[in-house]
Amino acid sequence: MKILITGGAGFVGSHLADKLHGEGHDITIIDNLSTGRYTNVEHLEGQERFRLIIDTILNAKLMEELIRESDRVFHMASAVGVRLIMEQPVKTIETIFHGTDIVLGFCARYRKRVLIPSTSEVYGKGTSVPFREDDDILKGSTSKHRWAYACAKELDEFLALAHWKESRLPVVVVRLFNTVGPRQTGQYGMVVPRFVRAALKNETLQVHGDGNQSRCFGHVLDVVEALPKLLETPSCFGQVINIGNAEEITIKNLAEKAVEMTESKSEIQLIPYEEAYGEGFEDMQRRVPCLDKAKGLIGYQPTRTLENIINDVANEFRREFKTEIANA
Ligand SMILES: NC(=O)c1ccc[n+]([C@@H]2O[C@H](COP(=O)([O-])OP(=O)(O)OC[C@H]3O[C@@H](n4cnc5c(N)ncnc54)[C@H](O)[C@@H]3O)[C@@H](O)[C@H]2O)c1
Repeated sequence: MKILITGGAGFVGSHLADKLHGEGHDITIIDNLSTGRYTNVEHLEGQERFRLIIDTILNAKLMEELIRESDRVFHMASAVGVRLIMEQPVKTIETIFHGTDIVLGFCARYRKRVLIPSTSEVYGKGTSVPFREDDDILKGSTSKHRWAYACAKELDEFLALAHWKESRLPVVVVRLFNTVGPRQTGQYGMVVPRFVRAALKNETLQVHGDGNQSRCFGHVLDVVEALPKLLETPSCFGQVINIGNAEEITIKNLAEKAVEMTESKSEIQLIPYEEAYGEGFEDMQRRVPCLDKAKGLIGYQPTRTLENIINDVANEFRREFKTEIANA
């Protein structure tokens, strides 16, 4: 099949490209390399059935051409990460909403199956864990920029479901919970790579707030196994589906685990949210997915643990540091 992956030079998109290319599909990636990296897909360049286009998804003319010639579309391009959202709120909203509008519009015109990733952020301030796809949602005020990401993604969900309702566009919406693994950079505030990198360098690990907020981390390889299955299962069309891992850990315990597993001498320091993100930042205390729907639809069952994640991320950083030293 001909598969288009927007944002395919990013963290999740590049693992998806590896998997689908490995299965013999023709892969086209469009990415503007804003948070994605060329090195994530460099190994695919020059191979048959692979094409990387460096451009923006906001280029509607190009997107029409790419979607028309594809059999499947995975729309992974997005403004991502809490830090980016706090620093560039206008770009965040425009990229997420306008970009998805373009993708869905052409997928509807040419009747293409399309997967739209959303995020556990849409659960907002919900406290009744685990989060189920049809839960009511409460978010903060519009003066708190953090919620812009969640609201823009939520609008993407509404638009995707509206296309399904009006024209039966075969679209699947996936709410990804924290997804981690090799290739994710800590640059935009992602906590696991940030902690593991600091631990390996014996630098201080900065935990925001009191560290009692908890998260669940899914290995990117479990996630990219699930995404194509969802798009190949017609009972998933017009559905919103959680994907992640339900193993929960507080951020403080995560920092301790990263230090312990890397045999680091790092200290752990608590810093207030305002210092990390500026005024007006609100966080969610817990974020645990209910995975029953994904299990029922595609038999989804993550197999990789948090220890697997920390080991894989640490091993990648060790390789990177060796190359840096060799090139110095
Ligand atoms: N990683 C997670 O924990 C997580 C959690 C929830 C949702 N998601 C969603 O999964 C998707 C992939 O996220 P990721 O973690 O791989 O992030 P990422 O930043 O690594 O990937 C996003 C990619 O989109 C590209 N991009 C951004 N704007 C673009 C534009 N205008 N035109 C073309 N390309 C553009 C970036 O360069 C990057 O390669 C996103 O939709 C994100 O919202 C991820």
